[in-house]
Amino acid sequence: MSTLLRGRMDRSAYVALLRNLQAIYAALEPALRRHAAHPALAALHDPALARSESLRDDLAVVDSGARADDPVQPATLRYVERLRELDAERPELLLAHAYVRYLGDLSGGQLLSGIVARSLGLPSGRGVAFYDFGDADATAALAGTFRHGLATAVIDDEDAVVAEARLAFEWHRRLFEELAAAHGLATDAA
Ligand code: HEM
Repeated sequence: MSTLLRGRMDRSAYVALLRNLQAIYAALEPALRRHAAHPALAALHDPALARSESLRDDLAVVDSGARADDPVQPATLRYVERLRELDAERPELLLAHAYVRYLGDLSGGQLLSGIVARSLGLPSGRGVAFYDFGDADATAALAGTFRHGLATAVIDDEDAVVAEARLAFEWHRRLFEELAAAHGLATDAA
């Protein structure tokens, strides 16, 4: 993430990041739709949040297919497995994953859009749809609605939701470590 933030990530590493995020959203978003009426999730359900399509569009722009055979990372496979478990058994905990992903995209993600476009030399306005939630007001409104949805969500076990969010952050940390190693980027732990 610091390499990305400093505008020093090369295209193949960025494509790998998008492919792994694509696998995560491909498990998360259908599960959230399936449980859209769940009392813990109903207030969060907003099609404007969905990222799967924008990820596919961005990959069509940035992915030269150079490392097309690269598998998704083990951390991503574990993450997807967990999302499937929750979809089947504990949909309430999907709230934690919606929080970590969407509120992150609506926050720091807004900083990354310009950095990515410049550092990868992307044609203006293309290849960064993943960060695009509309103009600044629309993005702030979505973040506000999401926070309100968090505050009003009907949750049986808040500690379990918090523990799940920590797990989600931990899997992201592992994913970034694995991607850094796979793309020869120094890991912060080094
Ligand atoms: C270069 C990378 C990143 C930058 C620059 C960044 C920056 C930020 C900023 C400025 C905020 C807003 C803080 C506030 O409103 O007080 C934020 C919030 C957040 N970020 Fe990040 N972020 C980055 C990466 C990530 C990643 C990788 C994730 C998760 C996988 C993430 C998840 C979140 C979440 C969930 C929030 C909302 C926190 C809350 O208010 O509860 N961020 N980020």
